[in-house]
Amino acid sequence: MKIFLDTANLESIRTFNDMGLLDGITTNPSLMSKEGGNPKDAMEEITKIIKGDVSLEVVSTEYSGMMEEGKRLRKYGDNVVVKVPMTPDGLKACKSLSSEGIPVNVTLIFSPNQALLAAKSGARYVSPFIGRLDDIGQDGMHLIKEIKEIFSNYNFGTKILVASIRHPVHVVEAAKIGADVVTLPPAVLNKMLSHPLTKIGLENFLADWEKLKAGNPDIKI
Ligand code: E4P
Repeated sequence: MKIFLDTANLESIRTFNDMGLLDGITTNPSLMSKEGGNPKDAMEEITKIIKGDVSLEVVSTEYSGMMEEGKRLRKYGDNVVVKVPMTPDGLKACKSLSSEGIPVNVTLIFSPNQALLAAKSGARYVSPFIGRLDDIGQDGMHLIKEIKEIFSNYNFGTKILVASIRHPVHVVEAAKIGADVVTLPPAVLNKMLSHPLTKIGLENFLADWEKLKAGNPDIKI
């Protein structure tokens, strides 16, 4: 399963990329807005740091605007995936951009039928938002199971990019279902890294080493 970071924060991107954890990045207008500044600088920098797919989202809601923005976004790098919303114009742009060799991520997917239609339009990724479904009392992870089954039945090449992830259990569940990608807020990835027993274990190792050193001051590794 691939891991993308769901952020436009350059410091987090560099930190996790240096650990070799990142296969790609997803952004959206809200994440860009959260960082402030000129989003062009962020987009330029992110596409340079990350070798894998970087989703950059259009803000036009009409086909022609999406096409223009999609082509402009793609100029940031060959790794840019244009993110379009799950609307009729979004699907039309998905089909056109995909036919021109520009990969597309269809975002704001909340039902299996929306995922099916986005795949039919040639999307490289569909982004089902599981946390937002959980928020309104629906089972977000059930949607991932349904999309997985549908895509497997027909051998669609479209990848399932699990989005709106809120906690590490979501990641384990997505991996068990066999989702292709999870896109994680930095806070969730941080939580996945740590375990209280790791912390305690390391403290004990270091305390024991200090005891050993007390009797052999010159000892070194
Ligand atoms: C995905 O591409 C979106 O950027 C993101 O996962 C949305 O998550 P949210 O529901 O936490 O805003």
